[in-house]
Amino acid sequence: MATSIPVERTKQSRISETDFNNLEFGKYISDHMLVASYSNGRWNDMKVVPYGPMAMTPAILALHYGQSVFEGLKAFRNNDGDICVFRAARHSQRLNKSLERMCMPTVSEEMFVQGIHALLEVDQAWIPSSPASLYIRPIVFATESRFGVKVSDEYLFVIMTSPVGPYFSKPLRVKVEDHFVRAAEGGTGYAKCAGNYGGAFYPTMLARDQGFDQVLWTDARNHEYIDEAGVMNVMFVADGKLITPALSSAILDGVTRDSILQLAPTMGITTEERRVSVEEIQRGLERGIITEAFGAGTAAVVSPIASISIRGVDYHLPEPGPDSFQQRVKRKLNDIRMGLEPDVFGWNYIIRQS
Ligand code: COI
Repeated sequence: MATSIPVERTKQSRISETDFNNLEFGKYISDHMLVASYSNGRWNDMKVVPYGPMAMTPAILALHYGQSVFEGLKAFRNNDGDICVFRAARHSQRLNKSLERMCMPTVSEEMFVQGIHALLEVDQAWIPSSPASLYIRPIVFATESRFGVKVSDEYLFVIMTSPVGPYFSKPLRVKVEDHFVRAAEGGTGYAKCAGNYGGAFYPTMLARDQGFDQVLWTDARNHEYIDEAGVMNVMFVADGKLITPALSSAILDGVTRDSILQLAPTMGITTEERRVSVEEIQRGLERGIITEAFGAGTAAVVSPIASISIRGVDYHLPEPGPDSFQQRVKRKLNDIRMGLEPDVFGWNYIIRQS
């Protein structure tokens, strides 16, 4: 079903310049974007336009005081040739939690989902075939121009898309961070706001210089408990159980994390969401109780962790085989999105192709 959102089509598609065999994450941005503006207390003028520069001043409040929030979700071309957007409603709810935390106006689920629908109908040729996908990047940012430290009265809501392959190309070497902090309880860690990512760059760069791919963030108080990995949540298989840090105000409520936690019991795996101490992980790795560790996220999907460094000691994990939990749950997620398994949780938003 088409939406009533107006569309201005590009005169010059860039799709032929896109190397679909080599989709570096986020490098190629599709031809169109959805734009809506907020002023006088309401969202106005939602439309699909050619992707490109937007006129605004360097005084916009998003740039100075950080009112900028985003989401990341994915669309797939399923086995029936229809478009499947995975867990759009859940991403819409999380966007609104982030917006509320940053004193920004919420976006209704209808506007969010219809906006994606309209954009994907126009740019459906950009949806790559499986296992690649179309990454959808909604963003809301403050556009009022002034220096006063205040909540903006004006915003833009923009949705862009990008055909993507895997975020990580190999199993990850991660380092448990025991000096820098990503987020403290009561802060903005659970919100998908720009500053959480900018603040992680420096410690991540230092970790990369030491040969690691990612940082495993720990709690701000004592660096005693594992939080998340910044671009993904973290999960462990220990003693045959799936264990992951319980959500807190310092941890992003990952949609892939949630999906895996719902799927695990259907696959005969018990789950535990609770505090996970660095000491427990260290002991579990030393004794071989932890058999798998992986990151879970929309971009990362399910990304195996090859080694964990704790206070300078590297602990290695076996390469996950096809029967490992992480490989099985990754396949299951894929099969649900592709329509190869029934969508019993109602996760797929389907845009039917006639
Ligand atoms: C996602 O998984 O969608 C993310 O937002 C992580 C990263 C690409 C920023």
